[in-house]
Amino acid sequence: MSDPVNLSVEDGIAFVIIDNPPVNALSARVAAGLHDRVTEAAADPAVTAIVLTAVGRTFIAGADITEFGGDGPAVDVHTVLAALEDCAKPVVAALHGTIYGGGLEVAMACHYRIADDAARLGLPEVKLGLLPGAGGTQRLPRLIGVAPALEMISTGKPVTAQDALNLGLVDRLSKGDVRTVAARFAATVARQKSPPPRTRTRTVIPPAPSFWDEAAARIGKSLRGLPAGPHILACVRAAVERPFKEGLDLEGQAFAACVRSRESEALRHLFFAERRAARIKDIPRDTATRPIARVGVIGAGTMGGGIAMCFASAGYPVTLVDINEAALTRGLSTIQGNYAASVAKGRLAAIDRDAALSRIRTATDYAAFADADLVIEAAFEDMDLKRRIFRDLDRVCRPGAILASNTSTLNIDQMAAATARPGDVLGLHFFSPANVMRLLEVVRGVATAPDVMATAMDLTRRICKVAVVSGVCDGFIGNRMVAGYGREANLLMLEGVEPARIDKALTEFGFPMGPIAMGDMVGLDIGVKAAAEAEKAGRGSDDPRPGIIAKRLVAAGRLGQKTGAGLYRYEPGGRRPLPDPVALAIIADAARELGIEPRDIDDQEIVDRCILPLVNEAARILAEGIAQRPGDIDIVWVNGYGFPSLRGGPLFYADSVGLPAVLNRIRQFRNRQDPRDWTPAPLLEQLVAEGRRFADLED
Ligand code: CAA
Repeated sequence: MSDPVNLSVEDGIAFVIIDNPPVNALSARVAAGLHDRVTEAAADPAVTAIVLTAVGRTFIAGADITEFGGDGPAVDVHTVLAALEDCAKPVVAALHGTIYGGGLEVAMACHYRIADDAARLGLPEVKLGLLPGAGGTQRLPRLIGVAPALEMISTGKPVTAQDALNLGLVDRLSKGDVRTVAARFAATVARQKSPPPRTRTRTVIPPAPSFWDEAAARIGKSLRGLPAGPHILACVRAAVERPFKEGLDLEGQAFAACVRSRESEALRHLFFAERRAARIKDIPRDTATRPIARVGVIGAGTMGGGIAMCFASAGYPVTLVDINEAALTRGLSTIQGNYAASVAKGRLAAIDRDAALSRIRTATDYAAFADADLVIEAAFEDMDLKRRIFRDLDRVCRPGAILASNTSTLNIDQMAAATARPGDVLGLHFFSPANVMRLLEVVRGVATAPDVMATAMDLTRRICKVAVVSGVCDGFIGNRMVAGYGREANLLMLEGVEPARIDKALTEFGFPMGPIAMGDMVGLDIGVKAAAEAEKAGRGSDDPRPGIIAKRLVAAGRLGQKTGAGLYRYEPGGRRPLPDPVALAIIADAARELGIEPRDIDDQEIVDRCILPLVNEAARILAEGIAQRPGDIDIVWVNGYGFPSLRGGPLFYADSVGLPAVLNRIRQFRNRQDPRDWTPAPLLEQLVAEGRRFADLED
């Protein structure tokens, strides 16, 4: 194994060079190497100054997350940072790429920081449920002041190099090779022989007395449920009110508590799961992708418009086709409205909006797709219609163009069979609103060519989505699982639990919205139509209970928010769900007709009844090879359905509860409820029998 930190001396400047691909993470070996090389350079009489730099795409992008929870580093990180900060010779950090977490903490212990003008600097630990653990909470406020430091630490948002210069986080920007600029700077300060400025000796100006209460309220809200929140506040406050060493000790204790927390473990799991999900097990990572220069979208409705926005915002020219001229005009005006709203909220610059809009051209004829490299259809969920569309696309699109469906349930293979190029066909299932939601299920048909899959995965990264591969089945990963979630929510209502109680139990579990309010928001007619379509296709359910409430509400004109009433009622123009005796009466009537007796049900049962079907169905999805790995399923549910990230997704949650307990509960429900719904998945039984967890199936 080559040394991850090297030393070379040129003209009296010692270059301490970190080389730990891919992102120069501050592993225990890097920390030890850093300590030894800096100590050597400090002792070398030929050296007048030290430049700390890294090779590859970035300076240190953070502590090595894979080592968290292990035995701890051989060299204490504070000893390494003290070797840098206490060095009698000037130490200059030459920064490029993403200087994150432990990387920025190393940089702050250096005497000077020179940054490449494209660099980004940040302390994103909070996104992993942590706080900076290598002096970041103590050094950052000393360098840039309390308010901006707290903002950076509590949001985890990075700053640009220019902002870092304005804040005083870096001393100078470099337009050219940052290492050369840093070496020149180091030689100059070494000649001046003035004592090196040490961050830890700087004093912090205390904020106004009201600052801490306001900050506590703000952080309490933005970091609700995250143990790191109060620790961040306490540590930054200690930077103002206590000596440096005491602040460091407090930070160390806080970091240790956070790293052990279930929430941080869940967030770290999701970090790696997201990256693993990008890999397709049987397709090499270096598979050549097809060039995508122009994208076509069919259907100017909500989905089609949102998809067009995704690509236009990411710089792709888009051809949006709807055979209905009026629908096209309406769709374009919705797109304009969405962009205008983003500008009004300050999320998008007017110039970027104009550029995105200029990339969208419209047409009413598929002939406009002649120059498209990828066409995504977002027409109604009707198989006959979709097959017709694919036949037409096959005729007008150039050879090699990729043809995709945004279907959320229908069989991709049947659509592919309507073309003479099934290898070029796949599913790209965007979630609504497509311009906002990060998730994309990339559905692999039996015939989908490997390079088409590789292209789709690459493309999703370019449009800033997180992609998960799914095999073909009814509903793919996410919607197949949602069936059990919705079924139990409906049965609970029939058993006498009021909609608001169900929603409350699940929002307390961590969902941003409960299933009942969600149904009203999406529109109850959508599910009713999908059920009718499934019936037509011979995929209907023989159980009338789960669908009965929505059917009756829709028949009564109560489609949800859009009609002012569904399972809740809404004030005109309002979105706040209000309990509605009319809906309760409809539910009670349906329950009576079905002979379902109301009974007392506690919140734990509500949560278990809704969440455990997710786990059980996920186990089947895994066993069938529809999903590649458990983490992929967690990514789908956290990014597409609002499953609380602090619980890591349904399968991480199941592992944390313990699979034997999960299986027991499912068996209890099977004995009391309907065995059709609650038969344990064989994979779940197998894992329990073997004493294993879902995590053991990750690769
Ligand atoms: N530790 C270990 N591995 C890491 C890592 C880290 N901090 N950061 C990234 N990696 C790995 C990724 O898992 C990925 O591995 P694979 O190729 O095997 O999947 C590889 O590096 C490349 O990462 P990305 O695919 O994410 O590449 P990117 O170019 O899109 O993004 C990045 C690079 C901006 C650095 C991004 O990976 C990132 O944000 N990383 C996390 C940074 C972070 O959170 N740092 C703080 C860590 S906690 C800390 O530092 C605590 C402390 O105070 C001491």
